[in-house]
Amino acid sequence: MMISPHGGTLIQLIEDKTHHHFDYSLSVDETAASDLELIATGAYSPLTGFMTQEDYKTVVHEMRLASGLIWSIPITLPISNQVSERVKVGDFIELKFNSQSIGSLKVTDKFEPDLYEEAKLVYQTTDRKHPGVNKLFSRGDVYLAGPITLYKNQKESNPFQEYYFTPKETRKLFLQNGWETIVGFQTRNPVHRAHEYIQKCALETVDGLFLHPLVGQTKQDDLPADVRMKSYEVLLDCYYPKDRTTLGIFPASMRYAGPREAIFHALIRRNYGCTHFIVGRDHAGVGNYYGTYDAQTIFSRFELEELGIKPLFFEHAFHCKVCQSIATKKTCPHESSNHLHLSGTKVREMLKSGVKPPLEFSRPEVINTLINGLSD
Ligand code: ADX
Repeated sequence: MMISPHGGTLIQLIEDKTHHHFDYSLSVDETAASDLELIATGAYSPLTGFMTQEDYKTVVHEMRLASGLIWSIPITLPISNQVSERVKVGDFIELKFNSQSIGSLKVTDKFEPDLYEEAKLVYQTTDRKHPGVNKLFSRGDVYLAGPITLYKNQKESNPFQEYYFTPKETRKLFLQNGWETIVGFQTRNPVHRAHEYIQKCALETVDGLFLHPLVGQTKQDDLPADVRMKSYEVLLDCYYPKDRTTLGIFPASMRYAGPREAIFHALIRRNYGCTHFIVGRDHAGVGNYYGTYDAQTIFSRFELEELGIKPLFFEHAFHCKVCQSIATKKTCPHESSNHLHLSGTKVREMLKSGVKPPLEFSRPEVINTLINGLSD
């Protein structure tokens, strides 16, 4: 039996481009365009549009939609004060991204959010050095809300077509594979050995692994998605059982909201059909804004039944010289001087300074792909 989507119904708001009579067109940013796509394909079920003030307030304050369902990240359509002057509730708007018509919005609500409050409660900081907060403060001071549609699914225009699956498609795929339990893995980095270790520990206990890298907007110094995709392909090819692993892209923007984003990431993977979701150290974190395990402890605020997807928590994994393997302090008794700590940040730094990360750190095939990709 396939897991139910959050809220019970997989939302589908994709329509063929019809000749609607629009009041006018509005250009949206990359995050709004990707949110539109994720609402329409059902990845954000039960959302059917950008959040109204009522939903926005309860999400910011209580991590719940007005209906009471868990939701931890505001999904909003910000506009500038200048644009806001000509927008009225009731308008039917064509949404454009990169000059392409991508969908429609029926405006049912327009409101001025308290961005400082949103930053404080969602990101736990108002520091503009935090990339998510900086983006929040620069996107626009007025939010538009209302139901949306998306013109066709965006697969054709996606650079990673082969790995583009909507939640409806992944659910079908998992069923065809005969998988009943599926663990989802979120990443914005190349997969290093600690990632591989926690994925494979999980895979020992479930039927399938859904490697679901985020390929939408990330901060400047994260590795570009096209380079990362090649590294995932080669890694799966060389080290993962084909009949137990699926690679698919997650076309969302990264928020870097740590704990709140971990809840969000888990609910979305449930919509894609996953029954389990991996949360390791500092999930979706950046800098030192969140404690190492905050993204795990936040889950205790919700009943498992309500979340509908089981989080699988992993301690900080490292390479131990004495164990000669990846381990965590749950499995390794040796002194920390024997431990090599792996992180995406470290891999990025080494690659940038032309140093090849060692075997304990990353599979050589992955490193070669990254070096080739970055030098192109
Ligand atoms: S992110 O999308 O969560 O920011 P990242 O690629 O850094 O991506 O991590 C992907 C997942 O692996 C997250 O759940 C994270 O907590 C976990 N993770 C990353 N490195 C480690 C590690 N060394 N030990 C345990 N978990 C890790």
